[in-house]
Amino acid sequence: MNQDELKKAVAKAAIDYIAPRLDSESVIGVGTGSTANFFIDMLAEFKTEFDGAVASSEATAERLKSHGIPVYDLNSAGELEFYVDGADETNDRLELIKGGGAALTREKIVAAVAKTFICIADDSKMVGILGKFPLPVEVIPMARSHVGREIVKLGGDPVYREGVVTDNGNIIIDVHNMDISQPIRVEEKLNNIVGVVTNGLFALRRADLLLLGTKDGVKSIS
Ligand code: 5RP
Repeated sequence: MNQDELKKAVAKAAIDYIAPRLDSESVIGVGTGSTANFFIDMLAEFKTEFDGAVASSEATAERLKSHGIPVYDLNSAGELEFYVDGADETNDRLELIKGGGAALTREKIVAAVAKTFICIADDSKMVGILGKFPLPVEVIPMARSHVGREIVKLGGDPVYREGVVTDNGNIIIDVHNMDISQPIRVEEKLNNIVGVVTNGLFALRRADLLLLGTKDGVKSIS
């Protein structure tokens, strides 16, 4: 199986998990990225079985709408039963790095609201210690240099992601070579830098269920 086939397999596994648990009033939180896109395309096949979705990015909102799935503002959606999204890295505690697609802030907000966060990923994303994938940090533009200096003090190498503006009008700094052996501490320290909007560590609110695509089938880890 190639990587896309593994992504499709975990998207299908997420559909199989949530479908029997939905009703006509259910609103589903939907993530961003290529794995989430497979999930959206499959979700469209039973769009009459649930009410609609909350999107974690403009791109996801557009894709949901293109399938005729109603997209709600989070503020009018109330509680979400499920949030389904991919990841750039996961460890076996289901702590994640996300934000490769620059959607980390809205992803973190929707994940915070959902009762169950289901992460769907192929097994190339599973690591022992997080941090080989550069950690995305969303930053208020005027704070770029300040945040970069503070990241250096924390032991990371900040790299400005050229040409990227987030859905919230901010910039992304990718942090290389950071020691993330204690993900919660690093997440908190980055959150404390003035000018940081969000960082891509999902450790304080990690995934509840990981559907991991492997050549031997989809593994369910919780
Ligand atoms: C976007 C994300 C994505 O979930 C992450 O980048 C994984 O993407 P893909 O499913 O394309 O590998 O966090 O901000």
